[in-house]
Amino acid sequence: MAMQSNTKTPQTSARSSSMAMQDSKLNQFFLAQLQDLYWAERKLVKTLPKLAEASTSFKLKQAFNDHLEQTKNHVTRLENVFQMMGEEPKALKCPAMAGIVDEGEDIIDETDKGSAQRDVGLIFAAQKAEHYEIATYGGLATLARTMGMNQIVDLLEQTLDEEKVTDTLLTKIAEEDANVKASTEKTED
Ligand SMILES: [Fe+2]
Ligand SMILES: [Fe+2]
Repeated sequence: MAMQSNTKTPQTSARSSSMAMQDSKLNQFFLAQLQDLYWAERKLVKTLPKLAEASTSFKLKQAFNDHLEQTKNHVTRLENVFQMMGEEPKALKCPAMAGIVDEGEDIIDETDKGSAQRDVGLIFAAQKAEHYEIATYGGLATLARTMGMNQIVDLLEQTLDEEKVTDTLLTKIAEEDANVKASTEKTED
C-alpha cells in the first residue's frame, strides 16, 4: 500500500469546487475521517484531565493541562471545518482512539500512584494518541490540499503543528524526567 505523504505539494488542480465534489467517494471519505477525528478530539477533552490528575510529576501534569486547552480549540477548529464544508458537525466513534484511551486507563490501574513508572506509562499512552492524531490530520490536510480546500488545509495544519509540538514535549519529559526516575525506582513488593 502506498504511503501517504504529509509534505506540502503545489496545487495540481482546482478544476472542481468542493461543492461540486460533495457527492464524490473522496468527499464522503474525507467527511467520515473528519467525523472520526471529531469523536477522538472530544474524547480527549474528557480524558486529558484524568491523565493530568493521575500524573506524578508536575511537568507532565502541566503538559496534559496545557494540551487540554489546545484540544478544546481542536474541537472548535473541526467544527469550523464542518461548517466550511456545509455540513453539521457529527461525531462517529473512533475505535482506534477508544482503544488508546482504554490502554491509558489500564496504565493508571496497573501502576502505583505517585510513581515515576506511572508517568512512563502515561507518556506511552499519550504519544499513541498524538501519533494517531498526527496521522489523521496529516492525511486530511494532504487530501484537502488536493481537493482545493485551502482554508481547511490551514485550519488542519494549525492543529497538526500543535500535536507535533506536544509529541516532542512528551519525548523530552520522558528523556529528562520520567524514564530516568523510573530507571532507579524501587518496586514496593
Ligand atoms: Fe488534538
Ligand atoms: Fe493531541
